[in-house]
Amino acid sequence: MTKDDAMRHFLDIHKTDPAELRAMLDLGAGMKAARGDKPKGAPDADQPLAGRMVALIFEKPSTRTRVSFDVGVRQMGGQTMVLSGADMQLGHGETIADTARVLSRYVDLIMIRTFEEQTLLEMAEHATVPVINGLTNRTHPCQIMADVLTYEEHRGPIAGRKVVWSGDGNNVFASFAHAAGQFGFDLTFTGPPTLDPEREWLEWAQAKGHPVTIERDPWAAVEGADLVVTDTWVSMHDPQSARERRHNQLRPYQVNEHLMSKAKPDALFMHCLPAHRDDEATSAVMDGPHSVIFDEAENRLHAQKAILRWCLGV
Ligand code: CP
Ligand code: NVA
Repeated sequence: MTKDDAMRHFLDIHKTDPAELRAMLDLGAGMKAARGDKPKGAPDADQPLAGRMVALIFEKPSTRTRVSFDVGVRQMGGQTMVLSGADMQLGHGETIADTARVLSRYVDLIMIRTFEEQTLLEMAEHATVPVINGLTNRTHPCQIMADVLTYEEHRGPIAGRKVVWSGDGNNVFASFAHAAGQFGFDLTFTGPPTLDPEREWLEWAQAKGHPVTIERDPWAAVEGADLVVTDTWVSMHDPQSARERRHNQLRPYQVNEHLMSKAKPDALFMHCLPAHRDDEATSAVMDGPHSVIFDEAENRLHAQKAILRWCLGV
């Protein structure tokens, strides 16, 4: 078997075949249903990761990604090691390529959260085991797999639905743009021009036949939305010096009850978390009737278990 036949990386939603993405979501939903109300530490009936070792590498903080991957691997019978990028030689000058080659001798899969996308890409290029993107400065595919799973769990197929992103055109938005193209939903971005999404992603969505609508007026944008989404105004890769300027620019795009009232009455509200309550979204919305933010967080676990199985072909 060649290297390419032997393994599948999960690097981004736009790099993964839509039928495979759909199969992963179906698998994740099925595994979630099969667990029922089992205690979180109880093993799944099947143990597809038995004997497998997974490295979870973090160059920056994480609660959901770290815990959901760790728990998911263990529920499926595998073992994990959580590694901080700063504590590894990677953080002290060893090349990414050498790190990838060495880790591939010890573990069966690498999940990595990095500052620079290039680190992820080099890791994938040189690893001989599958690599999963646990967030970079440019994308966050595992999050949006969980978000699509969550939407469909509550409201049925997302295809043809109107999704509105209000705020910063950041890495999480980018994976929504990829998902719009792959799952076939309409995506509107509303935010200031200075914080527009990357042109490359807008062009990709356009070429895919699902162009992102840009609407500067948040009230007009949210009209008739099935799903309203936002995220932090300052991401982990953004300089803290930009904080005040970003807050001033993004304040008109806060998701509050007034803005949500312009969406469809049964619209859902999502936020990948962590949130800065009463900045990008008010607590009234986050804790209100439209919000499914904690289902989203839970579904990281179920979606990623399916991604892990897909990567390992088990
Ligand atoms: N949503 C998300 O990725 O959260 P963490 O940063 O806590 O992993
Ligand atoms: N956009 C945020 C997402 C955190 C999960 C960040 O990159 O910091």
